[in-house]
Amino acid sequence: MTERRLLLATGNPGKVREIRRALQGLSIDGALLEIVGLPDVLPGLAHAERGRTFEQNARAKSLFYSRRWPGLTLAEDSGLEIESLDGAPGVRSARFSAPRPSDGKNIRKVLRLLKDIPAPARRARFVCVMVLAERGRVVAEFRGEVRGRIATAPRGESGFGYDPIFYYPHLRRTFAELPSEVKNAVSHRGRAAARLRRFLEKKKKAPSGGPAAGRPDGASALTSARSRPPR
Ligand code: IMP
Repeated sequence: MTERRLLLATGNPGKVREIRRALQGLSIDGALLEIVGLPDVLPGLAHAERGRTFEQNARAKSLFYSRRWPGLTLAEDSGLEIESLDGAPGVRSARFSAPRPSDGKNIRKVLRLLKDIPAPARRARFVCVMVLAERGRVVAEFRGEVRGRIATAPRGESGFGYDPIFYYPHLRRTFAELPSEVKNAVSHRGRAAARLRRFLEKKKKAPSGGPAAGRPDGASALTSARSRPPR
């Protein structure tokens, strides 16, 4: 029998919440797509991130877990790139304040490093790369980005990670001041997930075993959802 459960290969509760919401109500072969998390089906199995790019990390995670799971596996790697810090913290976003990183410490470190940088030069972007794999093979890749600025102080209570200092000029709010559905509609993860959703909707219409949707040769399709630059 076809495995209809999609494994979401991340232990980050903030990401799980947002991706579940973005894929809500999706059905495959007439049955509602069930999304399961790592703790539910592969507890205790961890994969260390060693890549230098979001793509490398997301690919490595999705391949690692998809070799141990019979259905589709979705992994994502994401982070914050700050222009005046040459793209840091980038793939090190989660552990920027190592050795004992936390969201609060990461935020304080960014604010300290940007202390003398004026507002117009505090440009930053969030990047998210999602990789869908099955039985040790990449099926498709999706990228989403959103541009904004680093605020001078944290604002807002929602979201996770760097949300309180990521100021989104189009809505004049930090991501932590936005309701989750509004953040999802404009965020890097929301944009990548919307592309993934469209891909899965197309895939279910294609004959089974056929080439990946969008690419006649069935090779992995890297799709990119970029935001407009801030006004
Ligand atoms: P990783 O993909 O597990 O390596 O972690 C990504 C890290 O980037 C998170 O722990 C956050 O610190 C940061 N990050 C990624 N996406 C977001 C977001 O949507 N809001 C705030 N921080 C994020």
